[in-house]
Amino acid sequence: MTENVVWHRHSVSEQQRRALKGHEPSVLWFTGLSGSGKSTLANALERRLAQMGVHTYLLDGDNVRHGLNRDLGFSDTDRVENIRRIGEVAKLFADAGTLVLTAFISPFRADRALVEQLLPQGQFLEIFVDTPLAECERRDPKGLYQKARTGEIRHFTGIDSDYEPPLAPALRLDTKAQSIEECVEAMVTLLKQRQVL
Ligand code: PPS
Repeated sequence: MTENVVWHRHSVSEQQRRALKGHEPSVLWFTGLSGSGKSTLANALERRLAQMGVHTYLLDGDNVRHGLNRDLGFSDTDRVENIRRIGEVAKLFADAGTLVLTAFISPFRADRALVEQLLPQGQFLEIFVDTPLAECERRDPKGLYQKARTGEIRHFTGIDSDYEPPLAPALRLDTKAQSIEECVEAMVTLLKQRQVL
């Protein structure tokens, strides 16, 4: 498909864009079940980073599925394509020098690994929002688990569609044991350890 298409080299380099920002670009990839708290935690972290003067952009599952990925559903094939496109978008934002936060279930290990490979080494930080299925189902903030249990929704993650937890995430958050503030502290600490901030 890329035959006869030539990559352009631009005159402002990635290094120059980085220097203007004053922090390193990075992709904080939140993964976890529906209702695990991905969006809540990504939002809370983004608020903190904004106070610190960090340039962020949050890509969120429900929102992206209203626009860029409105043609995709929840079959395995569509989820693979969903994550591939988000990976490419995250790469563009990171190339622009931004600290990107993504909040997608991203249920398959292979797809998350592909995104990691897409990015310069060290830029992909996987954050596992490790809320057990029973707790997500108890919270059921959108009433989707109930619909999945009655068969009104098919291919629902954790019910009749797989979720493959990360084997070695950069950070694992336990939302049953840790408050939102504690999770934000842990993420800021990670970003400092990895010299993003
Ligand atoms: S995925 O698996 O990464 O492609 O999913 P994602 O783009 O993150 O979209 C998840 C949100 O879509 C809603 N929803 C479903 N989730 C899982 N399975 C099915 N079948 C489904 N149908 C709709 C749901 O609100 C998810 O939002 P979160 O914030 O994760 O609860």
